[in-house]
Amino acid sequence: MRQLLALLLAVAPVSAFAHETPAPFTAAPLAMGSSWYPEQWPETRWDADLTLMKRAHLNVVRIGEFAWARIEPKDDVFDFAWLDRAIAAAGRNGIRVVIGTPTAAPPIWLTEAHPDTLRVDADGSVARHGGRRHFSYASTTYRRYATRIAEQLARRYGRNANVVGWQIDNEIGVPSYDRDATARWAAWLTARYGVIDVLNRRWTTEYWSQTYTGFEQVPLTLAADQNPALVLDARRFASSVWADYIGEQARAIRRHADPRQFITTNSTLWNDNFDQYLVHSDLDIAAWDEYVPDGHPDWAANALHHSVVRSYKRRNFWIMETQPGRVDWGPINRSLDPGQTRELAWQAVAHGADAVLYWQWRSALNGQEQYHGTLVGPDGTPMPIFDEIARTAAELHVAAQYLVGTTPAPAEVALIYSQESRWSIEHERHSRDYDPVAVLKDWYRPFASAGIPVDVVAPDTDLSRYRLVMAPQMTVLDAATARRLELYVAAGGHLLLGPRSGMKDGDNALSLARQPGSLAALLGGRVDYYYPLDNEVGLSGLGIAGAARVWAETLEVQPGTTVLARYGAHSGWLSNKPAFVMRERGKGWIAYIGALLDGDGQMGIVRWASAKASLKPSMIPAQSDLEVVERRLGRRRYFVAINHGDRDISLALPAKLSFILGDISGSTLAAHGVALFANNSSNP
Ligand code: GAL
Repeated sequence: MRQLLALLLAVAPVSAFAHETPAPFTAAPLAMGSSWYPEQWPETRWDADLTLMKRAHLNVVRIGEFAWARIEPKDDVFDFAWLDRAIAAAGRNGIRVVIGTPTAAPPIWLTEAHPDTLRVDADGSVARHGGRRHFSYASTTYRRYATRIAEQLARRYGRNANVVGWQIDNEIGVPSYDRDATARWAAWLTARYGVIDVLNRRWTTEYWSQTYTGFEQVPLTLAADQNPALVLDARRFASSVWADYIGEQARAIRRHADPRQFITTNSTLWNDNFDQYLVHSDLDIAAWDEYVPDGHPDWAANALHHSVVRSYKRRNFWIMETQPGRVDWGPINRSLDPGQTRELAWQAVAHGADAVLYWQWRSALNGQEQYHGTLVGPDGTPMPIFDEIARTAAELHVAAQYLVGTTPAPAEVALIYSQESRWSIEHERHSRDYDPVAVLKDWYRPFASAGIPVDVVAPDTDLSRYRLVMAPQMTVLDAATARRLELYVAAGGHLLLGPRSGMKDGDNALSLARQPGSLAALLGGRVDYYYPLDNEVGLSGLGIAGAARVWAETLEVQPGTTVLARYGAHSGWLSNKPAFVMRERGKGWIAYIGALLDGDGQMGIVRWASAKASLKPSMIPAQSDLEVVERRLGRRRYFVAINHGDRDISLALPAKLSFILGDISGSTLAAHGVALFANNSSNP
C-alpha cells in the first residue's frame, strides 16, 4: 500500500500532460470485482463469499441496487443495519464498495400507495410489480421517493471510507407515457417554442392537418407515422427527463458524499432512449455494462463500444457489469471460449476502463436470472470460469502499478457520434438496410485493423487537436455545428463527411440546400440525388476500388473541387457520376463520400484519408487479428497487445519496448493472448 501511495505521489505532477482529465475516481488503480447481493443470503455466509473473492483477487463489489424493499421496508422506515454490516465485512476483507441506489426496483408498499407512479407504455399498458423498472421516470411522486432514498444512503455512507462510489439506478432508459410525462412534455414544448405558432412553423404542421392550437394537444409519441420534428423533439424530451432524474439523485448524493466518491450510472450500449452526453452531464465518470450475448466477441466493434463510452465524459470509465462466461437473456446463451473472458477484460482496460466488475457473484436460488453466468455456483463453490477471472485479476494488479493514472493515448482521428442524426435516420431509414449503428462500426473497423486509434466524440467537442475528423452521418446539422466544422477546416483541419450529412436542420426539417446543407459552399459541391441500393455498385478512383452498398448519392462539383472516385459505367442513375469529392482549403480540406461502402471501399477511404492527413503509423505494426492500444501518462507509455485470433502472431517489436507481462514467447504472441509492454523510460 505504501508503495502504491509513493507511486501515486510520484506521478501526480505529471498528470497535467494527459490530454484528458485523468480519472481521479478509482477504488484502486485498477479494480476488479463483482455484483454482490448480500441481502439474498444469510449473514453467516458473507465471510465465506468475501474470502473467496479475495482468493480471486477481487477488490470491489457493487451492492444494493435492487434492495429497496430491504433498505426501506415501510414508507420512511429505514433499515441500514444489515448494509452497515455488509459494507464493514467487505472492508475487513480489503474489498471496496460501490453502492447502487435501488430505484430501478421500487417496493410494493410504494406501488400500492401510489399506483400513479407505475410506468405506462406507449400502448397504454401499465407496468406490474415484480419485473423491475416499473416506475415512471417523470412521476413527481416517484422522484420524491427516489431522491429521498438516494439521499438517505448518502447521509449514511457518504463519508464511509470503504465506499468508493455511487451508481444511480440501474440501466435507465424505458420511457413512460403517464399523465406526469405528458404534462412535462407540454411544459417542455412551451419552454422551447414559447408560442404554438412557432412550433407549427418549424415543424411544418400544415401537413395532414397537424396544426396545433395549444402545446397540451401535441401527442407524446415516437410512432413511425408522426412528424419527424415531433419525434426528434420527443427524443430530446426523454433525454431531458432522464438527465433530470439522474441529476436529482446525483445532487442529493453529492450533498453528503465525500468528493473522493464518484457518482455514475451503469449504461447499456447503443441505448437510443436518450442522449448519453446529456445524461452524463451531472455524473463524474461513465460506466457501462458490456455483454456479448451470442458469446462471439467482435473485437473491432468492442473497441468502438469502449470509445463511445469513453466519449461521454472524455475520461477513463468503469465496466460496471460484464459476463462471467455467458448471459441468460440471449437466444442461445453460448459461453465465451476459455480465455476470452480474460481477453475482454484486458481489452476494456486497454481502452480506458479502470475497473471490471462481473455480473454476478452467485445466482440467487430463485429470481429471474437463475441461468446467468456466475463466479460461484448455487452451492457457493467456484464455477469453471472462476480461475480465469482470478488469473486476470492477479495480472491486472501487477499491471496497475504501471497503468495507474494513465489514459488511452491521444488519438489523431475523431469520429463524431451524433445521437440526433441517429434518431433522425432511425425514424426514416428510407432503406430498411440503412442501420446507423452498423455505419459507425463500418467506418471504425478499418481503423481498428490498421492500428490507428480513433476517439469517438460528441458533435460539440473541440476538434482543434485532431488531424482527421470524420462525420459518417451528420444528418441533423444545426447551424452551430456547421460553423464549428467550417472553422475547423479553415484552421487547417481535415474533415471527411459521409452520406446523408447536412440533409436536415436542427428541427429535423429538410435543409434548403441539398446535402451537405450548410457545408455545401465549403465543399464546393453538393448531392444531386440519393439512391437506396438493393445491389452493390462498383466505384473506383484514386487508389480506391470497392463497391457502394445500401445507399449511393451522386455528387456535382464546382471548379476547384476534385472528384476522387466515380461510380462505374452501366449503373443506371449512378453511371460515371462522382461518388467521392474533395476540396482543399489552405492547409485544410473537406471531403464528402456519398455512399455506404463495402470493406474494400471503406479500407480504401481510410488509406487515402490517413495518407492525406499524414497520420502517424502505430508503434507495433498492425496485423490481422492484432490489436495494440496505448495508455499513457506524460512520457510514460504502455502498450497492451491482444491477439484476437486463433493463431499465434509474430510481433515486430521495436527495441525500445520492454515486455512486462503476458503470453509472449520470443516475439510470439499466443492465440487469444495478451501482453503488456512499456517504452523504456516507463518503469514505475
Ligand atoms: C444487466 C442488469 C443486471 C442483470 C444483467 C444480466 O442488464 O443490469 O441487473 O440483469 O443484465 O446480464
